[in-house]
Amino acid sequence: MRSNASAGSKRPITPEPRGSVTAVVLAAGRGVRMNSKIPKVLHPVAGRPMLLWAMAAARALDPERTLVVTNPAQDGIQAALNGQGETVSQVRQLGTGHALSQVATAHRASGPVVVLYADTPLLRGETLQTLLAAHRKSGAAATLLTANLDDPHGYGRIVRGRNGLFRDIVEEKDATDEQRAISEVNSGVYVFRGRELWPALVKLENKNKAGEYYLTDVVRLIKGKIATVAVDDSNEILGINDRRQLAQAERVMRQRVLDALMVGGVTITDPATTFIDADVAIGQDTVVQPFTTITGASVIGEDCVIGPLTQVRDSTIGDGSRIERSHLEEAKVGSRVTVGPFSRLRPGTRLADEVHIGTHTEIKNSRIGTGSAVPHFSYLGDADVGANVNIGAGSVTANWDGFQKNVTEIDDRAYISCDTIFVAPVRVGSDAATAADTVVTKDVPAGSLAIGRPEMKIVEGYTARRRARHKAVAKK
Ligand code: UD1
Ligand code: CA
Repeated sequence: MRSNASAGSKRPITPEPRGSVTAVVLAAGRGVRMNSKIPKVLHPVAGRPMLLWAMAAARALDPERTLVVTNPAQDGIQAALNGQGETVSQVRQLGTGHALSQVATAHRASGPVVVLYADTPLLRGETLQTLLAAHRKSGAAATLLTANLDDPHGYGRIVRGRNGLFRDIVEEKDATDEQRAISEVNSGVYVFRGRELWPALVKLENKNKAGEYYLTDVVRLIKGKIATVAVDDSNEILGINDRRQLAQAERVMRQRVLDALMVGGVTITDPATTFIDADVAIGQDTVVQPFTTITGASVIGEDCVIGPLTQVRDSTIGDGSRIERSHLEEAKVGSRVTVGPFSRLRPGTRLADEVHIGTHTEIKNSRIGTGSAVPHFSYLGDADVGANVNIGAGSVTANWDGFQKNVTEIDDRAYISCDTIFVAPVRVGSDAATAADTVVTKDVPAGSLAIGRPEMKIVEGYTARRRARHKAVAKK
């Protein structure tokens, strides 16, 4: 991080009072370049809406209040915020300066006002802290975060005087060719001294190519020194205006998430083919193998092996479990469990410790007790399976009767032979057994055997007769 301060006016500078911080997140833009039905700031990066990344960065300042400028016509913003910050409406999208001016008089504090844009998800809280500290130290009326970019296209350029001191911000649309060649850009992150900000804001005009009230023009109107701080990692200021930039942010954020996990003691065999959301937690010495995606609010214990070719969404997995080539959605898996290859645990699956789920098994809204096994191609839906139960290959719960879902209960130590069909609602008692190919249509008492299959007949000499007939036909 490098700092640079310049005198914007000859006025004596009064030191910044150590007042409480107001954070303002601008999130009301139309996001036209996203070409989306969803508000731009709700598009996720590493599983978290962009807006919440901005809120998290702002939190690092421990602000007295956080105001979020939102567009009341956009759906889902309040739900995503879930009580974080206080929203301020911007009914008409007349520009970033207009957005900030929507902050009500009651909130126009004299202390530091930190403004950030909700479309800048890679900004770190630490960078905001450094910016605020530099602002306080220099006593400037405003401190801007800038970055030097190889490709500054689309950003406001920082224009400096011959002495190298800050002079102006010029938007791409309004820039001369010479100004467009400047590689230093405005990040859209500012700290203002409230006392100077609010009076300057009312003087903004929209005499530019876009016809908008630019917040960037306020630096010309503010009375006092304007300082700049250049960010070290220029990725941090990436503003998301279209989906190409969204993908770019995703890539950077993904690497950050993987790096943090690896530093924390998780082995990621191939980071290039591993996708893990920011809100996922993974325990020490767990190995994540290639082509694996772990998303949402998933929590994975220690000493697990997850993957290869596995998807885990919003699931929890205990210590020492092994999940191979399988899909888990909203599932709860205990410790020392094995799943896969090629199995699917759907929402509401709860596997106790030491359960074994093998190949081509689908489980939905079911509980499987400790030490039980479903080793081969089965479907269990709405089942409540006890401990140490063995479910033979090809067993299926017929849980849907065309009108509603019905429960199948299979108690401790039941022995379910291959190809058993449970016509729910039905209960198999503890230590009971089913014979292969049985259709269980009524409750099986504890310790009993259910056998229900068509009687088998033997047809003697069948193959010889068939071969003789083949020969006769061939001769014709
Ligand atoms: C803005 C800056 C530009 C800077 C770039 C950094 C201005 C005029 N330009 O350009 O100097 O280099 O960000 O990424 O500020 N918003 C509102 N209400 C509005 C308009 C926008 O709340 O009426 C919000 C948007 O939701 C967005 C943010 O302000 O989060 C920035 O708006 P955007 O239109 O993306 O500005 P840029 O053109 O990227
Ligand atoms: Ca932007």
